[in-house]
Amino acid sequence: MGKPQRHVFVCVQTRPPGHPRGSCSGTALLQGFQQAFEQRELWGRFGLTQSGCLGPCETGPNVLVYPEGVLYSGVTLEDIPEIIEGHLLGGVPVARLYPPPGVWGEEA
Ligand code: FES
Repeated sequence: MGKPQRHVFVCVQTRPPGHPRGSCSGTALLQGFQQAFEQRELWGRFGLTQSGCLGPCETGPNVLVYPEGVLYSGVTLEDIPEIIEGHLLGGVPVARLYPPPGVWGEEA
């Protein structure tokens, strides 16, 4: 397998109900990406991996895309086509899904 052009990490961390940090619980989101990768034959060109907690749980579900190190927050199944079209294939990150100021090292 060659080096993926871009790599998507989907946080699937879960925590018990009522936990103060909450959790992304992004398993359905990961499955949505897997389906989209399958349908669009993206495997090989792009990587997709589930991850544990990425840090900013309060803004989840979170998705991280490398090599740019772009964090997307509050991602839903409906956002997957835009991330694939815009960022993975088009090289232009989806700014509307950026986390709020102050998260992920961005200045408030
Ligand atoms: S649980 Fe997903 S970022 Fe912490």
